Amino acid sequence: AVAVRRPGLRGAGAGDRARMSLEVEILTLFPAMVAGPLGESIPRRIQERGIAEIRVRDLRDWGLGRHRTVDDYTYGGGAGMVLRPEPVAAALAELRRDETTVVLLDPAGEPFRQSTAVELAGERHLVFLCPRYEGIDERIRTLVDRELSIGDYVLTGGELAALVVVDAVIRLLPGAIEADSIAEESFSEGLLEYPQYTRPARFMDLGVPAVLTSGDHGAVRRWR
Ligand code: ADE
Repeated sequence: AVAVRRPGLRGAGAGDRARMSLEVEILTLFPAMVAGPLGESIPRRIQERGIAEIRVRDLRDWGLGRHRTVDDYTYGGGAGMVLRPEPVAAALAELRRDETTVVLLDPAGEPFRQSTAVELAGERHLVFLCPRYEGIDERIRTLVDRELSIGDYVLTGGELAALVVVDAVIRLLPGAIEADSIAEESFSEGLLEYPQYTRPARFMDLGVPAVLTSGDHGAVRRWR
């Protein structure tokens, strides 16, 4: 038998939970890959304001044995290593609560859409599982609630996909960005957003539609 390491609980205490609208955990073998983008710009502000709490967890902390092994050769032979199920099971045993939705990022998953982002923004606790390596043990799928793909192409791992999903979800949380922007934007109405202009009034011989500077708000609305 191989011992499974279970690190102690970290992060926010239960007392903080009531105030948080969404808790997100990203389970990855490369924490640095996801930490950077979430520490900048709007995602950073969303966390600073306590609208979302995002924790990046190193899957290797639940690795097997002294070497914290997470992968192994594929049964039946073949190239590449496969993510073993036990580290994932151990991590989820620790992170999962009644209200948790566990999302596996996988190119064969359900296509991620704006409507999926809206659904996930209504959750309380999301755990994103980002596999690396050439594949995952098929039994890992029984441990997750949802499998999402961000498009018909194959990435080197789930990290970039998780970032895309988390970014699209957290900006929908109340107070994250101006409510007007969300209501007006393209996907909310299934339409492309209208063209926008700012200064200068002339740029490389290209002007701005006259209606936008006419002051006629009704006309602007119709044009948009
Ligand atoms: N992992 C690798 N490729 C992916 C994709 N297109 N979507 C989600 N997860 C992935």
